[in-house]
Formats: sequence, structure tokens, C-alpha cells
Amino acid sequence: MSDRSVVSLNGAWHIIVDPYENGYYDYRLQPTSDGYFRNAKPRTKSDRIEYDFSRSPTLEVPGDWNSQRPELFLYEGTIWYQRTFEQRLAPGTRVFLEFGAAAQRATVWLNGALLGHHEGAFTPFSFEVTGALLQGTNDLVVKVDNTRRREAIPTVNTDWWNYGGLTRDVRLHICPQTRIADVFLQLGRGSRSTFLGHVKLEGPDAAGQNLQLEIQELGISQHLETDASGTAVLSFEAAPSLWSPDSPKLYEVTVTSARDLFRDRIGFRSLEARSGEIFLNGEPLFLRGISLHEEAPGGGRRAHSAEHAENLLARAKELGCNFVRLAHYPHNEHMVRAADRLGLLVWSEIPVYWTIDWENANTLENARQQLRENVLRDRNRAAVALWSVANETPVSEARTLFLGTLIADVRALDPTRLITAALEHRYVNETTVLIDDPLGADLDVLGCNEYIGWYDGLPEKCDRITWQSAYDKPLVISELGADALSGFHADPLTRFSEEFQESFYQRQIEMLRRIPFLRGLSPWILVDFRSPRRPLPGIQDMWNRKGLLAPDGTKKKAFFVLQQFYRELSQAGVGTLGLRS
Ligand code: GCU
Repeated sequence: MSDRSVVSLNGAWHIIVDPYENGYYDYRLQPTSDGYFRNAKPRTKSDRIEYDFSRSPTLEVPGDWNSQRPELFLYEGTIWYQRTFEQRLAPGTRVFLEFGAAAQRATVWLNGALLGHHEGAFTPFSFEVTGALLQGTNDLVVKVDNTRRREAIPTVNTDWWNYGGLTRDVRLHICPQTRIADVFLQLGRGSRSTFLGHVKLEGPDAAGQNLQLEIQELGISQHLETDASGTAVLSFEAAPSLWSPDSPKLYEVTVTSARDLFRDRIGFRSLEARSGEIFLNGEPLFLRGISLHEEAPGGGRRAHSAEHAENLLARAKELGCNFVRLAHYPHNEHMVRAADRLGLLVWSEIPVYWTIDWENANTLENARQQLRENVLRDRNRAAVALWSVANETPVSEARTLFLGTLIADVRALDPTRLITAALEHRYVNETTVLIDDPLGADLDVLGCNEYIGWYDGLPEKCDRITWQSAYDKPLVISELGADALSGFHADPLTRFSEEFQESFYQRQIEMLRRIPFLRGLSPWILVDFRSPRRPLPGIQDMWNRKGLLAPDGTKKKAFFVLQQFYRELSQAGVGTLGLRS
């Protein structure tokens, strides 16, 4: 029995576009007490109120604003969202207002009372609203600002569209007074039978509570008692059918307390990285991957639904993947849950991307917050195999210290998974590249982005390259790619033609075969995606064209080159490429 329930707040919300943040600051640029968050109405014909949400346009939530109204296509600034909802607070319950994400910064008021603020465009956040709820009609106002900032995570320069808005689900979560606030349950790292984790209660009666954990299909029924902090540690043995891409087995897990019930479908598998190999369930693994941005099928807007997730991941499966790199930020929760169901291992990352403000303490704190929010949301997802802390960040002492802090945080939050980062290589001579980034010492798996044949020479250059690594660690080529406009056909040396991209993939694959420590790849990228850095008229038109698919899903010739390679690999059935050294 549980008092737990969820009320969706998705739908049409009124908006006010506010580029000068007039709804927040007075003319002296001081926060005003009668801003838009009050949603005030004139009481007499003489009252002066210069805004009215009820007569303002609407936007669909969830959804980015850029793709919903033409005038917002490139808009960067503040937009106010407002809606009312009916809710009554039942005795003995508490209510939490939950956001899947808000891009990039959100400030939230309920019935004119400030609830709080969140920074980070891709991770969930929530506020307890039990004390702020009115019995009946409630007025919710959210200020969302997607302005890029030097000190933010990510910083001002990225190669993706700066979509703004309430881009993911918004809901009320009604819970008992003492609720099950967190359940973490996975197999210990490298184990196939030792279950580890915890259950945390939060509320007035969290300590000394009896709990029951059940995994009926495994005959598990654990009686637990919480300690003085409301925590019960989990540790028991069982022999589950192990989750894998070929057999994505999920178990119904329930935790019952006096007044609450936690229910989730969780997969159990064992992951290890040692002596240059990645092991899944004790078997050497090769990651046949592809990278994705979080754009809905058809492109040009944020993905946010289970249908979007199923569609995108089905295309990765069709390519022959057992792995997806969800770049360059945590995707919506539907994506990782779909990966659990469909059987795709996931590289999950926060947008610590390129030239971050490494020496800014607030920047580090926000990176740690986004990382924590990402790990706490997804650490029960068997599909998530790798946590990545950075992408193509220039080596410096400040950067390696910053990232070292993030690595320590991940290990504390989740000792069961592997840690990686997308590093860069360097040339030691004209034909030899070396991976010796100092960060590699703290990683379990090395990621490396390389564009030999696109940014670095032409495809034939791949034929001459030898790879070296300073570490005895598995390597995943986390990016390789070339632009091609779907339907543009020419000879293989004509840049942006499908034939150029096809030749690039052919040459790259022959080079990859010669890397003895290669254990996976996630080429850049499944589908063309929007980017303000790609203006080439008639070819890019503000799209990055490295997709193997056009936005409408049309396959380019290179899709079939990679698909054939993955078919060969899966038939080889070995943990490595069966490489020629
Ligand atoms: C980089 C970067 C990507 C970018 C890609 C490209 O590797 O990580 O975000 O889109 O190169 O240039 O297309």
C-alpha cells in the first residue's frame, strides 16, 4: 500500500518572452518585488499591470522553444512559463514538484513564493511544495534562461544547438510523510552474484523502520531495518539471469515500508576493465557503438519522450550496435530506460566540453552538481556502463585537477561502473599517434576522439597511421566522422559527398583494425544535428552533416559500411576485433 502518486504538469503553458529580464529586475537592475512571478491581476481599472500570462501565447511542455515558434529559432535569453493546476494536499502526504530538466537555468515560484533555482540544462531537479500548496488552484511560474555563459557547464562554445526551455517532463509527486527517497541496487563491480546498494528513507519516521525488499523472480525477500540516518544497507547473494545487449533481462524490484512502495524494473550485470579488456558478465566485450545527440526523429528539436527514445535507439540497433554514446550531456530518462529494455550499453556524460573555466570554484561546483544528479538518476540502469567526465578538454594542470575531483565523486556515488573521458591524441611523428593524456591514469577506459581523414588530412591518410598508448587500458574511439549531405553524390575526393564519407569510413575501419588495444568505437554520429557552427549554404545550412542518417532517417552510403563492419564483428563473437597487429 502506498500514498504515492504522480500528476503530470505537461501540456500548454503560457509564456512571456523577456530578453531584458524586465519581469525580474527593476530599471536600476535590482530584483523587483512585483515581478512576473507574482502573476498579478489589476484589481481596479486604474491598476497598472504591464503583463498578463492568461492573454499571452503558449508553448508545449515538454519541448524546446526554438522549434515551436519561428521567432524563437535562435532566441537566447529568458522566457517565463506559467500555468495553474488544481491540487489538494491529503493528510499525511507530502508533495514534490519535479522537473526532468530546464535549459539552462530555472527559477521557480509557486503562488508567488520563491521555491528555488537550478543550473544545468540536462539533469533533473525538484522542490518540496507541501507548505506552499493552496487547497485548490495553484499558480506555478518558472523563469527559464538559456543564455550561454563563460563560467557555465558547458561554456559558451559548443557544436550543438542551444535549445532553451522546459525541455523535459514536469510533474507533481505525492509521497507519504516518510518516503523512500533513494534505492540503489546493482551487482558489485566484477561480481555476478553479490548484490550491493542501499535504501534511504526521508521524513519524520525514517530511523529504525522495517523494510521489505523483494525480487520475486529470484526468490529474494530481504527484511531490512533502517539505521538512525534512515538508511538500510543492501548486501546479499543471488544468481540472476545477467543483463546483456543480447539478453536485456530486467527484474521487478520492490521495496515496501510502512507507508511507501518503491517499484522499478532493474537489470543486473557485471562490468570490469582490466589488463586492457572490458569484461561484461566475465566475457571480453567489444563496444559496437554510435554517438547520438538528443534530437527527436526528424531533427531540429529536443527529444523528450519514450517514443522518441524507442525510435532513435531502434536505428542504432539496425546499425548493429550494442552500445550508444549519449553525447554530450545526460539525455532524458526515457533514453536510458529504453536502452535498458532494448539492450544497448550506454556511455553517459555531463557537458564538461572543450574550454571550461577550470579555475572557477562555482564552475566546479556546478559540474559536481550535474554529475551527482546524472548518477543518482541513472545508477540503477543496467545499460549505463560508462560515466564520462569530459569531452576534448585541453590538457592543463587546472583541467586535470578539476576532472580528478569529478572522477573521485563518481567513484564515491557509484563504485560499480567504469569511468572514461573523450581524450585527444597527439602525433609523435608524421605517422604515429599517441594517447598519453595524464587524465588516462585515473580512467578505467580511455576514450579518444579522432578525425584523421576529415579535419586531419584526407581519408587515405588513415592508411599510414599507427596508434600507441601510454596505458595498458582498453581504448574506445569515442568519435570519428565526416560530413556528407544526404543525396549529394560525386567522386570520393569531393568533400561533403556521400562517396567521400563512405571512403572515409572504409579507410578508418582498416586503420582501426590495426589498433591492438581497441575495444570499441562510437562514430560521430547517428543523425545530422543542428549546430550554429555549420553555416555552409546548400550543404550544412546550420546542420552538422556527420550523421550516417539524414534528419528524415534516410541512410547515407557510409551507414552500410559501418553496418557491415559491425555484422562482421558480431559474427566474430570475440572481445576484440581479431585484429591484425
Ligand atoms: C568534436 C566534438 C563534437 C563535434 C565534432 C565535429 O569531436 O566532440 O561535439 O560535433 O567534433 O566537429 O563534428
